Amino acid sequence: MKAKQAAADKAVEFIKDGMVVGLGSGSTSYWAIRKLADRVQEGLEIRAVASSKSSEELAIQWGIPIVTFAEISVIDITIDGADEVDPDFNLIKGGGGALLREKILAASSHKFIVIIDESKLVNTLGEYPLPVEIVPFAAELTLKKLEALQCKPVIRKKDEKVFFTDNGNLIIDCKFKEIANPKEQSEILSSIPGVVDHGLFIQMTDTVIVGNDDGTTRFLNKRN
Ligand code: A5P
Repeated sequence: MKAKQAAADKAVEFIKDGMVVGLGSGSTSYWAIRKLADRVQEGLEIRAVASSKSSEELAIQWGIPIVTFAEISVIDITIDGADEVDPDFNLIKGGGGALLREKILAASSHKFIVIIDESKLVNTLGEYPLPVEIVPFAAELTLKKLEALQCKPVIRKKDEKVFFTDNGNLIIDCKFKEIANPKEQSEILSSIPGVVDHGLFIQMTDTVIVGNDDGTTRFLNKRN
């Protein structure tokens, strides 16, 4: 917990008065929202957009002004967690099921800061099952197409019930042996009708902050 909080606190140092901030989702983003709320209490003036209903609820509860996309044209900085980060800064996201909105935010941001602990660092993506968001229509057919990509697709459930995203879609967790070429895999997945989006975030960030249990942090260096 300390590691996630340390990374989150470091990322929030980038936030300045007047900025539009993208709020990520998950247990690391929780700490970023917490820290932002503290700074808002101290007088920081920001507006925020959230990547999930749960993050939006937290922000509202803690007094961070939330705006709609109709009210902004660009996000200055989005801060979000990740499930895996490779040496080229490709990511797997979506463990919490918010990948579609998270990707929309990341793609609309001047800067996308990823906050993680050491456990998220991998040499090759794919140990973590890749979340793929699909429309419920013809789900069985889409599942077969995913299976044909040499992965084991499992419909996500929560509390023994089928899990629906904030967008009313399903999440299929796809366990690959490994994802050796994330860019290619991303393009293949995006080309399947029925797939709304997936948790591969290809080269979307240049800033990854790793937190440690002793409260220290480091900025990760990209391989190339
Ligand atoms: C939410 O859908 C995810 O993309 C999270 O950002 C990711 O799963 C990391 O979550 P934690 O910070 O809880 O590990």
